[in-house]
Amino acid sequence: MDTILNYCKKIIGGNIINGNELKYPFMATIWYLDGDEFSFKCGASYIGKNYFITAAHCLKQRDPRMTIIRMGSNSLTNLQDIFRIKQIYIHPKFNRENLKNDIAIIETITQPDNIKYNPVRLPCNHLINICYTIGSTVKVIGYGKEDKKGNKQYVDDLKEVDLKIKTLNDTKYTSNFICSDVFLAGDEKDGVILDSCTGDSGGPCMKKIKDNWVLVGVVSWGNGCSEAKFPGVYTKVLSYHNWIRDICKFPACSNH
Ligand code: ARG
Repeated sequence: MDTILNYCKKIIGGNIINGNELKYPFMATIWYLDGDEFSFKCGASYIGKNYFITAAHCLKQRDPRMTIIRMGSNSLTNLQDIFRIKQIYIHPKFNRENLKNDIAIIETITQPDNIKYNPVRLPCNHLINICYTIGSTVKVIGYGKEDKKGNKQYVDDLKEVDLKIKTLNDTKYTSNFICSDVFLAGDEKDGVILDSCTGDSGGPCMKKIKDNWVLVGVVSWGNGCSEAKFPGVYTKVLSYHNWIRDICKFPACSNH
């Protein structure tokens, strides 16, 4: 292809910001007012217009003035864009005790610039077999802690990990905690148990389908982090398709 054309495409479509390419231009972060400063709390995903998806347990404070969304870099300390919040929609059936229906939508006052930020796609019903097949690979990204006990600092560079969807039988979870609106994902590499951890919550668990990232899950909870037979638990986005569509008023599903 023509070099200039290629270059323009890179600048316009390739999300170059201060020379940094945003690898995941829908990755967002949630920050809470903590004293007189905002501190990082959770991940979130930009899904289009003024809307973001995160985990309900990330939003303790329903007051929109206590929370902001930041985006715009692959580094937690270098996020340039701040979005103030208009409204928070916690799933009406969210249960704080057992974390069932751990999903929320955030509507921001202003819309992210669509040249810089591309929304992640949402799964349609017909993708159920592709998205949630046992053994298939999904990717989780986030700034979560890397220490097993979640003690260490949040990481500065956006991390990614490939995990495999697990059945309940592969794990030590009991079925009363694992309903059909969640799925489990984990893996092991060179004796290391791969998992998400504190700070990854609310962030995307996704799958690339025909060149587009599709949001299959939201990081929800786990029994500690990287514990054998206790993979991470993810909210199954497809189960909330109608709820998302009713709030966002756009087709909450991608047509593949
Ligand atoms: N709930 C935690 C958070 O608020 C992390 C959830 C993921 N845990 C796991 N072991 N995969 O950030």
